[in-house]
Amino acid sequence: MCGIVCYVGKEEAKPVLLGGLKHLEYRGYDSAGLAVQHEDDVDYCRSVGRIVDLERKTDSMVIKGTCGIAHTRWATHGEPSEENAHPHRDQDENVYVIHNGIIENHDFLKKKLGKAGIVFRSQTDTEVLAHLIASHFDGDLNEAVRKTMSQIEGTFGLAVIHRHVPGQIVVARRGSPLVIGVGEDGYFAASDVSAMVRYTKKVVHLNDNELAILSRDGYSISTAQAQSVERATETVEWEPEDAELAGFPHFMLKEIFEQPETLRNAMRGRLEIGEGVPKLGGIVPVWERLKECRHLVVVACGTSYYAGCAGMYIFEKLTEVDVQVELASEFRYRKLNFPPDTFIIALSQSGETADTLAAIKEAKRKGAGLLGIVNVVGSSIARATEAGIYNHAGPEIGVASTKIFVSQLAILTLLALLIGRHQNLSLTDGVGAIKGLLALPDQVQKILSQDNHIRAIAEKYYRCNNWLFLGRKYGYPIAMEGALKLKEVSYIHAEGYAAGEMKHGPIALICPEMPTVAIIPQDAMYEKMASNIQEIKSRKGPVIAIATEGDHQIKELADDVIEIPATLDYLNPILSVIPCQLLAYHCARLLNRDVDKPRNLAKSVTVE
Ligand code: F6R
Repeated sequence: MCGIVCYVGKEEAKPVLLGGLKHLEYRGYDSAGLAVQHEDDVDYCRSVGRIVDLERKTDSMVIKGTCGIAHTRWATHGEPSEENAHPHRDQDENVYVIHNGIIENHDFLKKKLGKAGIVFRSQTDTEVLAHLIASHFDGDLNEAVRKTMSQIEGTFGLAVIHRHVPGQIVVARRGSPLVIGVGEDGYFAASDVSAMVRYTKKVVHLNDNELAILSRDGYSISTAQAQSVERATETVEWEPEDAELAGFPHFMLKEIFEQPETLRNAMRGRLEIGEGVPKLGGIVPVWERLKECRHLVVVACGTSYYAGCAGMYIFEKLTEVDVQVELASEFRYRKLNFPPDTFIIALSQSGETADTLAAIKEAKRKGAGLLGIVNVVGSSIARATEAGIYNHAGPEIGVASTKIFVSQLAILTLLALLIGRHQNLSLTDGVGAIKGLLALPDQVQKILSQDNHIRAIAEKYYRCNNWLFLGRKYGYPIAMEGALKLKEVSYIHAEGYAAGEMKHGPIALICPEMPTVAIIPQDAMYEKMASNIQEIKSRKGPVIAIATEGDHQIKELADDVIEIPATLDYLNPILSVIPCQLLAYHCARLLNRDVDKPRNLAKSVTVE
């Protein structure tokens, strides 16, 4: 998704901006550009392709100055091209603007500006911003942006410089993330803290409908209604090294291998073994209401949605609460009708997913309580919810979500356990759950040690164009997540199915060229899953089973077996997802895919 980096200070802006853009590469993009203001001029460069292409292009240009803006674009309006890359300029080339989000009324504004004689250079919605800001400019850039904001419908995080306003950047947001960084030698703004964490860990989040002026000497925030805003800085909790490869060839692999630590971080300080009750400080503000709640709705997208699906079964096991899981993109447009004591749980790694954010806003309007399980501290979803639990998983850079999935499952289990213990879950079951949770990091490590075996399985099947993933109950969301992981990083077509549904359609696909990954741990669904495997084998379909250690029967049934340690039935998803992630990674590598930046995908989906 598009990325913004801005810098004003004592240093030359170009290397700071290019360095910042490189840290945003993981979000996915197709072109990039920057503009740097100095004296009464602006140096400016755009390029299709990677940041290195932009860097190479700027090498042969003079780009001087200590105040600049830079952008990575992920095409929404208009193909990826130099003309459509940001920054965009007004007619007289005074205003330079970069923008994340979508200007919904851009057609209307474009026609209006066209009638006034403006000729557009690009097919983007963003270009209207440059022309509008220029039309309102009478020496005060902040005011010109404020007036423009009142004309725009849609979402934006934007940054603007002006040829004749030296050393000043104006930023504004509505619906797209924007964070200000307070450095020793200058000020930053970015759509994502990873772009500036190398320079500063002190950040201030802009809220919707706020603007800020950044200069070398400081920054000031105001609302769209021109009221000044005072906001304390926050400290980013992760280190710059967390966003580096640390010897791994890809972030996806690094993050898969980080999962034992991810689980420890999700549980650290939250487990009280004696009482069998977890401690979740983040939900204290709503606990009195939450503990009486009988209806929970989990809203999320993609991998987070599948974590929610597994969470539903965990709540069903540990609590009396009725849980519903909804795709945020559908839920936001539904006629919402839930009991008055309902709580919504938004699950999101980035905390910026537009559909999830819109879904919780809609649910709030209908009176639901809002909880967030979010990784990025201070993100839009974290701030839009009443209370919540952070994953503390560190940055997830690989576009395909991996470590956050296990973290979300661990936290959903803690929440279910807390509510369950308040209801009728016994002390024995509570203590058992905590023991099960505490064993997980080492168990995950044990699965990771089978990486070579899993790679060998990938070598056997990566040329197959279609795969099926099957599971039942706790295994069903893992089948869906396994299929999603494989398709998004390797571009192999994969379907995730509830195994019981197989005979209602997908069984027609079974043939020797179509492998099935069967999630078959030792649980109440074992026999049913074994029957499904037999059905596949009798149609000559190859089967890769993800099964519990010591299961001898499965070795007779399946072509290949990946073992996972024994755990409580509802904790199996945290273990069985790991082989799926590694299978997807190795197939993608064998097919020579760009695993960390799969085609057409973006890390955080901040547009609808
Ligand atoms: C898949 C993936 C996406 C995200 C989805 C939600 O590997 O990464 O499906 O899970 O876009 O993102 P968050 O969790 O940031 O709301």
